[in-house]
Amino acid sequence: MPVKGLFRALRSHQAPAMTREDFTRLPRHVALIMDGNGRWAKKHKLGVAMGHRRGVETLRNVIRHTDDLGIEALTVYAFSTENWKRSPEEVGALMQLILDFFASEIDELDEKGVRITILGDKSAMPIRQQEVLVEAETRTGDNQGLRLNIALNYGGRAELTRAAQLLAQKVQSGEMAPEDITEEALEKCLYTAGQPDVDLMIRTSGEMRLSNFLLWQCAYAEFLFPTVLWPDFSIADYDAALTAFGGRERRFGKRL
Ligand code: IPE
Ligand code: IPE
Ligand code: MG
Repeated sequence: MPVKGLFRALRSHQAPAMTREDFTRLPRHVALIMDGNGRWAKKHKLGVAMGHRRGVETLRNVIRHTDDLGIEALTVYAFSTENWKRSPEEVGALMQLILDFFASEIDELDEKGVRITILGDKSAMPIRQQEVLVEAETRTGDNQGLRLNIALNYGGRAELTRAAQLLAQKVQSGEMAPEDITEEALEKCLYTAGQPDVDLMIRTSGEMRLSNFLLWQCAYAEFLFPTVLWPDFSIADYDAALTAFGGRERRFGKRL
């Protein structure tokens, strides 16, 4: 094992990962803005693609741990509607990583009963990626385990605009009346239809903004902004975030 890898392995084994019983309260739905790959690459004098590659390793570990803890849903921000503005080289590297991720992970995820949903407009993705994404959703569609939502070409505003269009079509066709447009009806038109609201939103790298992620679903989410860059986000960091969530007082507008 290269020295760097050895240090990494030792560090990740410093504290054993926590188990479900170690927590007093776990979120039902965790959302993650996996930020800081570019800065990580720069810090290590590597190309940005390497940062994203290491970011996928972190994601793999985080999915496993989320599944081990029995958390119901995990939503990760992998590519925003605004990320097309990056260089063609970087966008190309990210598109390649999508293929690599599914090629290496889909068997294990399916075996574990993970159900994959893609949030976002797949039709704007390259055709090969579209095929792989549809295949992953179809193959895992009946699974009953962890709901893994991967946001790709996703924007919260685009999602809400799409929901408005879907509702408008139903009104136009006579399927529903304008007064039938309730919060519940709108929720059914979101990519996350039927899933619980986000309880915990974590954004790594110290940035404190939503960047157009899950605008509706985060209405009452608790937010955490660890400064660690995404490729360095360890299971211990994740456990620390989940522990901090357990200590938050959630009032939902009530006086407790
Ligand atoms: C997040 O890392 C991953 C994607 C946006 C795909 P960044 O690439 O945004 O990393 P920074 O913010 O430049 O460090
Ligand atoms: C949000 O991060 C998108 C993803 C993590 C995929 P960005 O790095 O693109 O967001 P901004 O530009 O800093 O707001
Ligand atoms: Mg960023």
